[in-house]
Amino acid sequence: MALRGCVAMRTCAASVWLAATSAAAQPAPGIAPLNYFLHAAGPAAVPTMQLGWMLTALAVAVSSLVAVLLFIAIARRRPHADPAALHADSGGLAWIYIGTGVSSVVLLMSLVYALMTLETVAAPARQPNLTITVTAYDWWWKVTYSDAPDPACNFVTANEIHIPVGEPVKIELRSADVIHAFWVPQLAGKTQTIPGQINQQWIEADQPGTYRGQCSQFCGAQHAHMAFEVVAQSAQDFDAWRRAQGQAAQPVSSADAAAGQRLFGERCAGCHTVRGTDALGAQAPDLTHLDSRRLLAAGALTNTPAHRIDWIQHAQRIKPDSLMPSIALTAADAAALSAYLSTLH
Ligand code: HEC
Repeated sequence: MALRGCVAMRTCAASVWLAATSAAAQPAPGIAPLNYFLHAAGPAAVPTMQLGWMLTALAVAVSSLVAVLLFIAIARRRPHADPAALHADSGGLAWIYIGTGVSSVVLLMSLVYALMTLETVAAPARQPNLTITVTAYDWWWKVTYSDAPDPACNFVTANEIHIPVGEPVKIELRSADVIHAFWVPQLAGKTQTIPGQINQQWIEADQPGTYRGQCSQFCGAQHAHMAFEVVAQSAQDFDAWRRAQGQAAQPVSSADAAAGQRLFGERCAGCHTVRGTDALGAQAPDLTHLDSRRLLAAGALTNTPAHRIDWIQHAQRIKPDSLMPSIALTAADAAALSAYLSTLH
């Protein structure tokens, strides 16, 4: 009884929460749906997709066969005049042995195929030249590029991972708080991020494009709004992006943006970094090149100047419980802050 009451309360609380948040936190338009995992786009994902299809086909075939046999058995049943005859061995037992034998062989073959697939995707054919560290936070992703010999190409960004197309890329996975899981369905399987441990994963994209990623281990209230994007680019575009991201923020020129920067120093710098300024907060996304990102707050919104101000003022409505407070701003403050954030290309 107590359990039922508890379940009912939770369901009720969940529906109230859903109603309260559904208007505010719609997925950002243009973010690809997750059913894209049926269309693998790289060598770490293709073998697992084929395995998935094979096991699905096998499950459908076995269920259909069992259903057909069941129907045949029902259609052919005869009323027995003598109940003792029911227990007489009429050779039916042989079918049970055959059935068990066949399914054991099929299951064993599936196991071997699954193990071979695991082996195939365990490591890329070539040693990756690029390693990216991804740290999961409640509820966003810190992305660190740190392995370039030229320090100008090493930096921290958030929620958007760029990779060169056709190259295997090693991803080192960490967590800053609880267990999350890193999943880019089109590029690879899921790997957990565990506090105090470094897990590894590799991804590779065959074609340039934007691939959606998502946290796939329940990690709290905003788990569903913990998305990210992987952008696969030609080697030249990737290098250009990496050089641009490595730069510090440009000094501001307009009076409005300067006022916004002062406000940022007072109200935001405790949590956020903007490289090249005094803002050095380390517990929130690096905003040095905020304007270059397509999405905001781990996929909750598209990144437009209006959405940025909406997010700053209503973070707790858009992502309830997120670790960014809603911050009240006067119209003049909002305009100045918006001018400043727009300089962060
Ligand atoms: C107490 C810490 C804290 C303060 C203060 C704070 N933020 Fe944040 N901010 C966060 C966290 C944490 C996130 C990530 C939230 C998420 O996506 O769940 C975030 C996300 C953001 C984002 C989205 C970044 C991205 O990559 O999508 C922007 C923009 C932003 N904050 C701007 C501001 C501005 C401007 C201020 C000051 C007016 C501010 N923040 C003050 C903690 C803070």
